[in-house]
Amino acid sequence: MASTGVLRHRLQSARSALSPSEQRRHARALARLLGRQALFLRARRVGLYRSTHGEIDPLPLMRLPQARRKLRFLPVLRPYPRGRLWFLSHRPGDPLIDNRFGIPEPRLRNRRVRLPWALDLLLIPLVGFDARCNRLGMGGGYYDRTLAYLRRRRRWHRPRLVGIAHECQRVEALTPNPWDIPLDLVATETRLYARKDLQAGSHPPETSRTAGRESTAHPAASVIPEPIPCKR
Ligand SMILES: Nc1ncnc2c1ncn2[C@@H]1O[C@H](COP(=O)(O)OP(=O)(O)OP(=O)(O)O)[C@@H](O)[C@H]1O
Ligand SMILES: [Mg+2]
Repeated sequence: MASTGVLRHRLQSARSALSPSEQRRHARALARLLGRQALFLRARRVGLYRSTHGEIDPLPLMRLPQARRKLRFLPVLRPYPRGRLWFLSHRPGDPLIDNRFGIPEPRLRNRRVRLPWALDLLLIPLVGFDARCNRLGMGGGYYDRTLAYLRRRRRWHRPRLVGIAHECQRVEALTPNPWDIPLDLVATETRLYARKDLQAGSHPPETSRTAGRESTAHPAASVIPEPIPCKR
């Protein structure tokens, strides 16, 4: 059984080992899959991120014709309280500046700051996920703190939470911590995993292409398993 830190390290290495052409192919395939989902088509205000360290790139999705009228927002580290994110409007070509983690952010100056409930859809990067839409992030708790209001204020407007990832970032089962906010959907280059469907007792929706592996995630699983290797 691997510790969470070891699992993060392995999954990040696997993601970073993808070649630039695999990265491009995955991002385009993800765009084709997610770009026809109602939750994407209906969303007007979309939070996304600039991919770093092998994260799947959401930009091909945002370049689809059906995304032309959508407004984009990028996360920035909040100065206070620390450990949370704001979302700033961003247009292609607007200048970005690296934050203390080396992640490009819009400048705060002259920008309207949004809180997550102003968004319709939030595309969230992740290090690992399971078929029940549990998320393992970088370990800073930024998305969990930013979205913690969803636990207390269920009737507030909530963005749909969509994790986007390479299929090789999936593990059999993650054990969520009490503060972890689960995702509504995870989209990869080959499949969509929807939490709602699992709660109803059925399997996640299969798309026309599948990963070629059946998920054997079990609700009672409590061990952190080996990640599925990226290169097959
Ligand atoms: N709502 C919260 N309030 C206070 N602390 C929190 C909250 N959510 C998470 N944390 C803290 O953040 C730390 C990291 O959380 P976790 O391991 O879930 O990070 P993560 O989800 O992988 O990170 P990220 O979202 O930044 O990618 C935890 O030690 C936890 O104590
Ligand atoms: Mg978490």
